[in-house]
Amino acid sequence: MSFDNFGNPREIMKDTPYNIIPLHHRPELINQCCKLLNSEWRRSDKARLISLSSSCDKFPTSLILLDNDKVIGHCKISLIPSIDDCCVIESFMISRENRSQGLGSILLRGVEQYVAKRGIKQVLLTTRDQEGFYRKNGYSISEPLNLYTLMEYMNSINDIDKEKEINLIKNIIIENNKNNNNNNERRKEIQKNAFSGAPTPPPLPNFIEKKRQYESPYTYMCKKLS
Ligand SMILES: CC(C)(COP(=O)(O)OP(=O)(O)OC[C@H]1O[C@@H](n2cnc3c(N)ncnc32)[C@H](O)[C@@H]1OP(=O)(O)O)[C@@H](O)C(=O)NCCC(=O)NCCS
Repeated sequence: MSFDNFGNPREIMKDTPYNIIPLHHRPELINQCCKLLNSEWRRSDKARLISLSSSCDKFPTSLILLDNDKVIGHCKISLIPSIDDCCVIESFMISRENRSQGLGSILLRGVEQYVAKRGIKQVLLTTRDQEGFYRKNGYSISEPLNLYTLMEYMNSINDIDKEKEINLIKNIIIENNKNNNNNNERRKEIQKNAFSGAPTPPPLPNFIEKKRQYESPYTYMCKKLS
């Protein structure tokens, strides 16, 4: 299939069996969509169906790529209230048997056109291993969302990603606390020795109070829509 990356998917998809529509316009396809997503990211059907049933015209919106009546692609679009004119996309996928035919790029283009028509100027996303695909589609690496927007972001991502991100932050906090406790114990020991007449202990090693940054395994990417 040949297509212009910056063209109109609907035009491109004219005379093809493909179509991009909001899931809630075809609610009877929700189970198919659930199966498709669970074939990539395992999650209970119940939780998945609850999440998919939140799709609406005012965001969050699940856009699906159809081959006739078969759901072969999905993307969830959510707003970030603290950043004007911005949206986050997640759960972006093409069914395994339909990959590497340009359909992922067509769905992405469809998503961009859908949100641009609704006043969105920038699309954000996080990815673990699909940076190359998004780069090919005009996305570039962006700064991680700051802590304020992280809270909003956490509310918008799926539960599996949320759990991973929360565990990561917890581990950083636990390790920081451990370092602080070790340092405090050592300080107490030195102070005790200083007032007990005991010989002066060797100089305090340089405590490396690591200022840990929030290091996410995810790559944050964005694209400004023209
Ligand atoms: C990522 C995904 C949606 C891509 O869909 P696709 O239909 O295979 O992508 P396309 O065929 O449109 O690929 C477009 C271009 O990107 C390239 N590309 C695709 N995946 C890539 C990757 N991981 N790294 C580098 N380049 C990649 C393709 O080679 C193609 O380049 P070309 O135009 O020069 O031939 C699909 O692989 C998928 O569903 N993966 C599993 C779910 C997932 O990881 N989703 C992303 C969550 S952030």
